[in-house]
Amino acid sequence: MPESVPRRLLPLIGGVGGGRSAKTCLYRCGNACFHPAPNQSDNTYFGDVFQGVLSRRAALKGVAVATGAGAVGPAALSPAAADRGPDRPHPAPRPTFENVLPNNRDEVSVPKGYDHHVIVGWGDPVLPDAPEFDFENQTAGAQARQFGYNCDYVGFFTLGDDRGLLWVNHEYTNEELMFAGYTGGADADPEWLRVAMAAHGGSVVELERVDGTGQWRLVTEGERPFNRRITPQTPFRITGPAAGHELLRTEADPEGRRVLGTLNNCAGGMTPWGTVLSGEENFHQYFVGAPATESYARYGLSSGYTGRRWDRVDERFDLAKHPNEAHRFGYIVEIDPHDPESTPLKRTMLGRFKHEGANVDLTEDGRVAAYMGDDERFDYIYKFVSAKKYVEGSRKHNMTLLDSGTLYVARLEGDSPAEEIDGTGTLPLDGEFDGTGEWIPLCTDTESFVPGFSVAEVLVHTRLAADKVGPTKMDRPEDFEPSPVTGKVYCALTNNSAREPGQADEPNPRGPNKFGHVLEIVEDGADSAATTFTWTVPLVCGDPEDESTYYSGYDKSKVMAISAPDNLAFDKQGNLWISTDGQPGTLGTNDALHVMPVEGRFRGELRTFATVPIEAETCGPLITEDQKTVFLAPQHPGENGTAEEPTSVWPDGAFPRPSVVCVWHTDGRDVGD
Ligand code: FEO
Ligand code: CA
Ligand code: CA
Ligand code: CA
Repeated sequence: MPESVPRRLLPLIGGVGGGRSAKTCLYRCGNACFHPAPNQSDNTYFGDVFQGVLSRRAALKGVAVATGAGAVGPAALSPAAADRGPDRPHPAPRPTFENVLPNNRDEVSVPKGYDHHVIVGWGDPVLPDAPEFDFENQTAGAQARQFGYNCDYVGFFTLGDDRGLLWVNHEYTNEELMFAGYTGGADADPEWLRVAMAAHGGSVVELERVDGTGQWRLVTEGERPFNRRITPQTPFRITGPAAGHELLRTEADPEGRRVLGTLNNCAGGMTPWGTVLSGEENFHQYFVGAPATESYARYGLSSGYTGRRWDRVDERFDLAKHPNEAHRFGYIVEIDPHDPESTPLKRTMLGRFKHEGANVDLTEDGRVAAYMGDDERFDYIYKFVSAKKYVEGSRKHNMTLLDSGTLYVARLEGDSPAEEIDGTGTLPLDGEFDGTGEWIPLCTDTESFVPGFSVAEVLVHTRLAADKVGPTKMDRPEDFEPSPVTGKVYCALTNNSAREPGQADEPNPRGPNKFGHVLEIVEDGADSAATTFTWTVPLVCGDPEDESTYYSGYDKSKVMAISAPDNLAFDKQGNLWISTDGQPGTLGTNDALHVMPVEGRFRGELRTFATVPIEAETCGPLITEDQKTVFLAPQHPGENGTAEEPTSVWPDGAFPRPSVVCVWHTDGRDVGD
């Protein structure tokens, strides 16, 4: 193994947060990029030089579920390696819509022939008794019954042909945009702090289809029995091996089994049994007064008393007084949108880190695998595989699947000599950034594989446990998505402007990595329970005229620019949809939703399906099972403005309002056609 490269603390290269605005950095991730990367471990940047011939499989399986929109498949067999080259077959229709060109418009733009509609946005009534939104007179009580702020992940569950339940994460809040005269948490009206808190969490809202089309609208009349708000005050039950452990016990919860709320819910996924998995990401920013120990520092928890200052209205956010409260966030939470009375769950078996989200797949023998990214510069990729099998129709049983099994962290090794990976993005002589990988077990529900860590300690201090077993430091691993057609698994790596040229490795081949890339994982045996895999990088993002970019070898004169890949989705044909978070700061144009075939001769032909308003990131996206609708969630429009001087007035022309949008073809064609 090559020597690991010592981590040095450098000034930022390429702008704060790889192109994010200062405002987003403050609110979204608590200025994570202003601080040293929390991963100070000696784990590798370089992969081992792998001399063998890759054992790529000849064929891949088809996989049921994972889109959450019902079973897709069975298998379209897809030769993984043999289908490269000019004569490779294309297995499915490729997207042919007319590209939306890069722009800086304060609107959602969709291709010719499509239309879009704002379904629901910040402040809209969710519960039937919610008051109408009143910008000038916001109260926490009203906000807790209205749609929250900064929509991120969107899940959708049909109730027959013409009704459905939409789940939306409310990741964080932009207080300067929400309240006129806001100057910081230390001085703010305490009610504003409570409003902001109530605007976090998630919403379930009932939708109805409009006239048999791909358009959906909010149901605004009647009982709407499923509608629900989840906030930081909603009781959650802690499940899995760490439940009840002393690290999770607090004065308010001496049993360590009940937490109020969920925080910074970023991406997510749907399970085959009809629930939502939602990732608690940058939870560190809500706490003050952290003890100065490694276990807090590794999560970016600081001893300062700046920022949101929720401790002023809820003492549990002061870790000097309640040091275990932060151990109760950073999990995957599971919510059942079909049962508004259900208690949401925190699944400790899936570890504690800055969870972007979790996306599930069924293993060959019918168990559940969940793929997860820890979104921080130089942090890791994880996988959970359940001990028990999924049982169709047995909801009670399936609701136990995420509490026992094995948690793994990934180590990736390149197959090209390390000296061929120079940080510029120049392809190695074998023509690909690719190699092999291993899922390193951290623990099962009954056994720890990390010396010095109990099972519960692995699951609460997951980053510290993972540091001990040699995983690969990645460039901000965000959303995962398994292809419903091939079973290959994709991960968005947003960027890492702090990676130095000498820290480039084959899975993270640019230093600095200003524009991000996408990783494709092929599990050995086409089985998501596998402990070994092969991988490649099908997309190295940026302006295609930039030589460091790579679009699977496709003609770069025929592709669109993309930067900062964040959320992933698939359509039925197996085309990969990629939403972005950071194009304004890196390409100078609004964030977008792109789509790219990942199989056959058009692999790499990236097109732009939509762009979002000024200073918004795209979020969502979700393509419905019938492929008639794309849901998008433009988050933080106008994030650099203030309530007094907005830089975006989307969507109403008054002030920016994070909202969920549906897009459909006006002729009723499949979206993406
Ligand atoms: Fe909340 Fe990693 O984006
Ligand atoms: Ca290679
Ligand atoms: Ca994200
Ligand atoms: Ca994001």
